[in-house]
Amino acid sequence: MTISNEKPFIAGNWKMHKLIPEAVDMVKALKEASAQLTDAEIVVIPPYTMLSEVRKTIEGSSVQLGAQNLFWEEKGAFTGEISPLMLKDAGCQYVTIGHSERRQYFGETDETVNKKVKAALAHELTPIMCIGESLEEREQSKTIEKVETQINSGLEGLGKEEMRLIVIAYEPIWAIGTGVTATPTQAEEVHSFIREKLAEKYGNEIASYAIILYGGSVKPDNTYSLLKENNINGALVGGASLEADSFIQITKEAIKAYKEKK
Ligand code: 13P
Repeated sequence: MTISNEKPFIAGNWKMHKLIPEAVDMVKALKEASAQLTDAEIVVIPPYTMLSEVRKTIEGSSVQLGAQNLFWEEKGAFTGEISPLMLKDAGCQYVTIGHSERRQYFGETDETVNKKVKAALAHELTPIMCIGESLEEREQSKTIEKVETQINSGLEGLGKEEMRLIVIAYEPIWAIGTGVTATPTQAEEVHSFIREKLAEKYGNEIASYAIILYGGSVKPDNTYSLLKENNINGALVGGASLEADSFIQITKEAIKAYKEKK
């Protein structure tokens, strides 16, 4: 599925939260609201154990489903892992890859991220590749360098046609779960760099359609100002995606900002 940033893209990464009954309640409310939110792409990204029930609940609505990780092999003796085929089987269209929490706690590297992005594409899953710098790197003015390395390595070996199918999420690690959001100017600076980098690697057309999300303490009251920036096409929301009300509000703010910048 070729991606395009004509609409804002709002994805809720639930991380390791919720049990099935709460998950179903949340997406029921989201499904109901989604009929009025067709000017946005909405994706929920629950833990594996809830994918199936969430899929059943959102059926018939525009809400889409994603998973938080995958392993690159199709099947085999890999205890505890989940393959791209299994995610397709569970009804996923998206998968986040290389989230900073996976890099930090589970040893993911740019090389494993690259393998996972390729495996996702091979099975027609849209990867949401996550990148971003630590506080230390920002303080040492190494943000751009870090992001550039992550893009070059994460996308290594991928051609133009494949780049049409990849979503990028810029999530500064210091803004994740801290309540400290990057200012719109700080975020836009990195987003515009990412788009320039994609233009350099894949040409202007592909870069102009690319979806580049911001993540890190996105809340209803900061969504509008972030999404008003030229190169911010949506949000990857953690904490504020757990409650239907705040996630719906974020989506509404995103739609409003997008309409105004057109
Ligand atoms: P918070 O919105 O809770 O800061 O999390 C952001 C994130 O990591 C989304 O992937």
